Amino acid sequence: MTIDPREFRNTVGCFATGITVITTLDVDGAPIGLTANSFTSVSLEPAMILFCLDRKVASFDSFAVGKAFAINILAVDQIDVSNRFAKSGPDKWQGFNFDTWDSGVPIIPGCLANLECRGDSIIDGGDHVIVIGEVERMTAANEDTKPILYYRGGYKEISF
Ligand SMILES: Cc1cc2nc3c(=O)[nH]c(=O)nc-3n(C[C@H](O)[C@H](O)[C@H](O)COP(=O)(O)O)c2cc1C
Repeated sequence: MTIDPREFRNTVGCFATGITVITTLDVDGAPIGLTANSFTSVSLEPAMILFCLDRKVASFDSFAVGKAFAINILAVDQIDVSNRFAKSGPDKWQGFNFDTWDSGVPIIPGCLANLECRGDSIIDGGDHVIVIGEVERMTAANEDTKPILYYRGGYKEISF
């Protein structure tokens, strides 16, 4: 069977995810960030996570084994943040405040959760690579905070 890329996107889009912004620093120490929904946990002990990184994104070279990055899991009122970091360009960080923890990578305030990680391995995955990181520090908001849901190519809300 030949798999049509558009049809494949529509099919995997049936799997609802949250939205993250993945942040790091470039070689000059400037902040880097991109929106990603391919995040998932991998291992509990040690605590490891992964995300899939498109080989074509501008920030591709900023992720490496041994380098720090952060997963910022967006809350329902951060759709503007998702849209901001889903675009390429130098002005992504203009007027955008962030915190830092131990490694200096951007930690986005107001998120549902933040995880500071260290690159463990990078595995080939077709037109993407799979970036695996070990979690070094994390925080999560209280249980009333709602996520952004991404489903079938659009932002949704869950009610609870
Ligand atoms: C909902 C959503 C999910 C995305 N998930 C990913 C992802 O998992 N991996 C990825 O590499 N790009 C993903 N992207 C695309 C990047 O955010 C986009 O290519 C961005 O412009 C990359 O920034 P850069 O070119 O500055 O690195 C996603 C975009 C959206 C809107």
